[in-house]
Amino acid sequence: MNRILLTTLFSVVLAEKSPRLKFTVQEPARFHFMKPENYMTVYHQQGSDVLYVGGRAVIYMISFTHKEVQDTMIPVVPDESARQSCLSRSIPLQLECDNFITVIEKVNDTFVVCGTNAGSPKCWLLVNETVLTPIPDHGQRTTAADISPPFPSQRSVSLAADGSLYSALSAMGKQTGSIRRTYSSNKLLKTESKWLLNPQFAGAVVIPAEQKYNEEIYFFFSELNKTASLDEEPYRARIGRICMNDEGGIKSILPDSWTTFLKARVMCGTASTPQQYNNIRRAFVLISQHRTGVMYGLFSNVWGTTVVCAYSTEEIDQTFAKSKLKGYNSPLIGHRPGACASKNNTAALNQKTLGVIKDHPEIEDVIWPVGGAPLDLPTDDHFTHVVADTVLAVNDEHYSVIYLGTEQGKVLKVLHTNAEAFIISQYSLFHNEGPIINMAIDSQKGHLYVGTAMEIQRLQLADCSRYGHSCRECILSRDPYCGWDWAKRKCLAIPANYNITTGGFIQSLDQSNDSVCGHAAAATKARSMVPKDVQMSKDGPVFLPCPVHSYHATYVWEKDNCVKRYPCTITGSSCVLAPTPELPLKEGVFRCMALESGLKQEVVSYRLVINGGTLPVSPASTLLLSVLLAVAGLWLQ
Ligand SMILES: *[C@@H]1O[C@H](CO)[C@@H](O)[C@H](O)[C@H]1NC(C)=O
Ligand SMILES: *[C@@H]1O[C@H](CO)[C@@H](O)[C@H](O)[C@H]1NC(C)=O
Ligand SMILES: *[C@@H]1O[C@H](CO)[C@@H](O)[C@H](O)[C@H]1NC(C)=O
Ligand SMILES: *[C@@H]1O[C@H](CO)[C@@H](O)[C@H](O)[C@H]1NC(C)=O
Ligand SMILES: *[C@@H]1O[C@H](CO)[C@@H](O)[C@H](O)[C@H]1NC(C)=O
Ligand SMILES: *[C@@H]1O[C@H](CO)[C@@H](O)[C@H](O)[C@H]1NC(C)=O
Repeated sequence: MNRILLTTLFSVVLAEKSPRLKFTVQEPARFHFMKPENYMTVYHQQGSDVLYVGGRAVIYMISFTHKEVQDTMIPVVPDESARQSCLSRSIPLQLECDNFITVIEKVNDTFVVCGTNAGSPKCWLLVNETVLTPIPDHGQRTTAADISPPFPSQRSVSLAADGSLYSALSAMGKQTGSIRRTYSSNKLLKTESKWLLNPQFAGAVVIPAEQKYNEEIYFFFSELNKTASLDEEPYRARIGRICMNDEGGIKSILPDSWTTFLKARVMCGTASTPQQYNNIRRAFVLISQHRTGVMYGLFSNVWGTTVVCAYSTEEIDQTFAKSKLKGYNSPLIGHRPGACASKNNTAALNQKTLGVIKDHPEIEDVIWPVGGAPLDLPTDDHFTHVVADTVLAVNDEHYSVIYLGTEQGKVLKVLHTNAEAFIISQYSLFHNEGPIINMAIDSQKGHLYVGTAMEIQRLQLADCSRYGHSCRECILSRDPYCGWDWAKRKCLAIPANYNITTGGFIQSLDQSNDSVCGHAAAATKARSMVPKDVQMSKDGPVFLPCPVHSYHATYVWEKDNCVKRYPCTITGSSCVLAPTPELPLKEGVFRCMALESGLKQEVVSYRLVINGGTLPVSPASTLLLSVLLAVAGLWLQ
């Protein structure tokens, strides 16, 4: 115990990098899987209370209400013949001889569902809520093997847009990986195999445009150079893009391939250092109709450290529009190869333009993160997932909030401004601390769905009641979903129809500044509590706990209203005063003070009396002491 005390003696100032608040959520509104779902695919429509989860040979339709969850299970077993021939394969794949659901997407108004079907992928339409029927013939051959991988460990990404399904399969074994349009009344197209080098897909998103013909899809992936030498980085993070109106090339060149595919290298790391994070694991894009927005990428390096980098979508756009093509040195005149074109633009489809695209699918310029470095987040958390939301604050500005899932089943809520990444809070959500393997965000209804292999839970994005009952606590949260309502004197969610002129809510988001609350109100609280009586025997141990609310605050103990350097050891969610040889405990009043944003507040106070002192011995105070001792014992284990 001495060691803890000494090492933490002067470490009362906590890292601003840590979450400011830590919440443990115990609400019962959660769904438990009967068996672990280590691979899952999730479909959620904005504004809906239903989450579709594809698991092992089953689709779960999970309906959430405020208080409870209800589920319908739709079994989707593999074909027996496929299962039998799968079982004759080598050992690691044998374990995956089942029908893992890999795709649930809504194309037009019908659900397309695909599964691995024990190594021989199969697709269905989900009709009348719960009935799976074969996909009708479309005139074009839609091949399930282009939509779903044969085994769930081979990652894939699906995206439904504008009545078509787009599918990206990662490379595995002999399969080289591809980006295709797979289910559509438009032409089904693919990438040329030489355009992608062992891609491992991380996400896909539609990039809207004012003119329909300019709409694009971005695919995020890492490429793996298997022949790279040991001292070389084998991964490269990429953005690949295609135009949604692409109808393929001409008979002699690229007849069934994209004519608008281009890829760029994405860097995540500090530009001046060789330390880069080259493996992109997840990506999420916040974008407006005017193509302005931000892309968040979750990256890892060879040692498995994870970081988040942010990119401007306009900058990505400009880079694709202006960069030289790698290995192509002639001037680009006329229609730019790879640029979207309206249907009547014949220059886009001439032999020469297509030839350039076929042989030079990569642009030379690389894409750097906003601020030239990853966001300043704790590196001891291993992130597994990222989603984000934009929030309109009461100053009429938009703020970005990022949600990060971790390997330990936690969720970090982060306010991202131009200046910094401020970690509003950390949620501990699950009974089992497994990694978070899926997340879905509903900005419209204000919900976050979070899944581990054992459970699915729903969180409120505007979770304002957790911040406390004072203006100061509400403001210091720096949560853009929440504000202090002057009239109701409560920390409340900013209403959807909030009027900034007549409003009456206050926030302080760009920096923690609680002067908006009026200092007088907060200051009156200091050193005003009636101390709780605690008795101790002459040389007996005593530990006085001080509950930690904000992890960005500095906690100090004052004795008889003087600041003393009694150590405040933060263990779990409490800061415990324990005596040291230099500072033995003496009778008196001990107050735990929290200092944050220039303001000192009293958290708790005790009047300590040595046995035989002036305090009358009452059973109640003795009881209190033994409870304190028991709890402190737990903390200091
Ligand atoms: C779906 O429901 C409609 C109307 O109830 C019915 O006519 C149709 O046969 C159902 N389809 C299937 C595949 O069950
Ligand atoms: C989606 O709807 C559009 C418009 O009704 C139609 O042209 C298209 O064929 C549909 N897509 C699929 C894949 O059925
Ligand atoms: C992979 O790395 C090797 C060794 O550095 C290099 O010779 C080769 O060109 C790389 N392949 C690609 C496609 O970049
Ligand atoms: C293509 O058609 C659109 C309107 O239909 C027109 O505005 C545009 O100028 C045309 N482009 C070319 C290259 O002819
Ligand atoms: C906000 O309130 C003001 C004053 O009542 C009113 O003039 C204005 O139209 C309102 N704005 C909106 C967007 O409702
Ligand atoms: C907080 O806000 C007040 C009033 O808006 C301002 O005078 C003060 O300088 C701010 N404090 C800090 C630390 O920025």
